[in-house]
Amino acid sequence: MKKLLVLSMAIAGFMLAGSAHATHASDGNAENGKAKAAVCASCHGADGNGVAGSPLYPKLADQVPGYILSQLMAFKDGSRQDPIMAGMVAALSEKDMADLDAYYSSLPITNIGIKKEDEEQARIGEKIYRGGFKKMNISACMSCHGPSGEGIPIQFPRVSGQTAEYTEKQLHAFKEGTRKHAMMNSIAFLLTNDQIKQLSIYMQGLK
Ligand code: HEC
Ligand code: HEC
Repeated sequence: MKKLLVLSMAIAGFMLAGSAHATHASDGNAENGKAKAAVCASCHGADGNGVAGSPLYPKLADQVPGYILSQLMAFKDGSRQDPIMAGMVAALSEKDMADLDAYYSSLPITNIGIKKEDEEQARIGEKIYRGGFKKMNISACMSCHGPSGEGIPIQFPRVSGQTAEYTEKQLHAFKEGTRKHAMMNSIAFLLTNDQIKQLSIYMQGLK
């Protein structure tokens, strides 16, 4: 476990070198963020845990500090594209984004688990999540996202607890290159559609 952490931190350090932002998550104020989050609640939930019946709206609660800020900036500069979120960030300053980051990362996440009939798929997903897939050179997801999917601040997001639908959409976007991120593009490119589904189901129940 110690070795794993050192490796992950080395990767994080490497990535940090490439992305120096003027604003840091630590600049955010959770109290101010709470007031600014009122407009986000209709899609991301009043408690940051999404809304029932809209599985493509991700949970923001308990995300690793720094990740929400980085994604809001990516929506703003267009490096991550989503028509809804592009509109939402248009009026936000970097300070607003840091405050929202501080607020959401302070909230607890809820986990909806998985259906009984999905357990077999989840077991196959778990093998890839924990052990990778040597034959195709896919590294274990947990080496960057943590053994329980909790993420590692600030670059490696929490992936546990999201709906399988949202995770599946993101893995396809990485695979097809419509969501650009060198690391995740090269990993998702190698995953089959079945593996993407199995992983997504597993991560929904992971905690
Ligand atoms: C009308 C619905 C809607 C509203 C309102 C909305 N969002 Fe979103 N948000 C989305 C959708 C849909 C996505 C997923 C985009 C995708 O599939 O890439 C998303 C994604 C995100 C992500 C990326 C999460 C991740 O895990 O990568 C962040 C961060 C985010 N929203 C923050 C906010 C904040 C902060 C606000 C309020 C200022 C807000 N959103 C308002 C619909 C909404
Ligand atoms: C070498 C490190 C690394 C490995 C290994 C890795 N990831 Fe990632 N992953 C990242 C980083 C960094 C991001 C953030 C991308 C961004 O900033 O847009 C990410 C983002 C994601 C997201 C998007 C989360 C969100 O909220 O939108 C998902 C889903 C994901 N990874 C799943 C996986 C799965 C499944 C595997 C294993 C097959 C995996 N990752 C392996 C580094 C990694």
